[in-house]
Amino acid sequence: MASSTELAIHMSARPTWAEVNLAALQRNYQAVRELVSSEATICCVVKCDAYGHGSVECARALQEVGATWFGVTSTEEAVKLRRGGVRTRIMVMTGFWRGEEDEVLDSDLTPAIWSTEQLQALQRAAERRPKRPVPVHVKVDTGMSRLGLPMAELPGFLEQLRNAEDIVVEGVFSHLASSENLDAEDAQWQIMCFDDVLKTFAEHGMTPKFVHLANSAAVVGRHDTWHSMIRPGLLLYGGCLPLEGKAAAEQCIPSLTPVLSWKTRVIALKDLEVGQAVGYGGNYKTTRPTRIAIIPVGYGDGFSRHLSNKGRVILRDQYAPIVGNVSMDLVTIDVTDIPDASIGDEIILIGRTEHCRIDVEEHALHTQTIPYEILCGLSPRVPRKYVDE
Ligand SMILES: Cc1ncc(COP(=O)(O)O)c(C=O)c1O
Repeated sequence: MASSTELAIHMSARPTWAEVNLAALQRNYQAVRELVSSEATICCVVKCDAYGHGSVECARALQEVGATWFGVTSTEEAVKLRRGGVRTRIMVMTGFWRGEEDEVLDSDLTPAIWSTEQLQALQRAAERRPKRPVPVHVKVDTGMSRLGLPMAELPGFLEQLRNAEDIVVEGVFSHLASSENLDAEDAQWQIMCFDDVLKTFAEHGMTPKFVHLANSAAVVGRHDTWHSMIRPGLLLYGGCLPLEGKAAAEQCIPSLTPVLSWKTRVIALKDLEVGQAVGYGGNYKTTRPTRIAIIPVGYGDGFSRHLSNKGRVILRDQYAPIVGNVSMDLVTIDVTDIPDASIGDEIILIGRTEHCRIDVEEHALHTQTIPYEILCGLSPRVPRKYVDE
C-alpha cells in the first residue's frame, strides 16, 4: 500500500514562478555592446514579451544601461512598451496592420515597411498631422520568402519612397534564414543579395543611416554582417546559439548568463511499492520501492508533455528524474535517491545550482524544438519575479 504525506504547507499562491534576473540581462547587453563597440547600434529584440521574460521590465532595465532601440513584432507590443514608460526608439519589425498607421505616428514608432499600401497609409496619416518627417525602415526579402519587398520590386519602390513627401528612409534591413551556419549556401546567397540591395539604394542616391541584417547568431558568428545596426534577441537572454561552420570556431563573445530560471516547490510526497503505476496512462511503473514528489507545474504552464519520463529537475543540488506523464498542472519526480526531500523544498525546472544545471537548451533537445519556443511557451499563468543579482 502506498502511504502519502499530506500537503502541510501554507502558501499564499501556487508556488510556481519564473525568476528574471535583470542584472544578468544588463550584463549580457554590456557584453554585446563591448563586442560591437561603437561600430553598430544595438536594436534589442524584445518581441513576444521579451521572449517570455516580460517586455516592459526588460526594456526598462536595458534602457538603464544605455539601450536606445528596441525591436518588437507589432504595434500592440510597441504601445505596451510606451505605456510602460519606454521612451527610446521602437522598431515594429513585422510592420503595422491596416488601420494602425495613426497609432504608429501617435506613439512615435518606427515601422518596417515593404509595400505601396503601407507607404500610402503612412503618408496619408502624416498629412493629417503637423508636418514632421516619418522615419521608416525598408524590409527586403533576400531569400527567406517571408515578409519583405522582393528584390526585383526594389527600384520601383524606391521611386515611390522618393515621392512620399513626409516619409524618410532611415533604415534598410533583411533577415537571415540560416544564421547559425553562415557558411551555408543560402546564407551566403542572402548576404550577397543584401549587398546588391545596398547598391540599388546607392544608385537611387539613398544611404540610410541604419543598415541591418544580423540577429544573435550572425552577431556572434560574422563581423561582416553587422553593418550599422544589429538586432540580437536570444543573445541578450543568455541563450546558447547552436552555431555551425566557421562561426562556431570563431565566435567571439564572452560567456553570457541565462536570464530566466523557472522554479516550483514540492507539494506532496508519496511512497510507492514495486510495480505501481504513476500518472495518466500509467506508462511508468516503479521497479523498486520509490518515493515520488509531486510538483505543481504542467503543460498548462508551458512545461512540455514531451518531457514525460525524459526530463529532470534539480532538488537540493541533485538531479531528480521526471517519472510518468506530465499533466496539465502536475509533474511527478522520483526522489528516492534524495532521502532528505521534503514538502516545500524548492525545485529548479530551468536554472543552475552549484553542481547542477538545466538550461533551456536541454528542454529544447528533449522536446525536439528550439530554445526560443521553450522561452516563448512559458505561459502567463507563471508569474515572473524580477531580481537583480
Ligand atoms: C527580424 C528579426 N530580427 C531579429 C530577431 C532576433 O533573433 P535572435 O533572437 O536570433 O537574435 C528576430 C527574431 O526572430 C527577428 O524576427
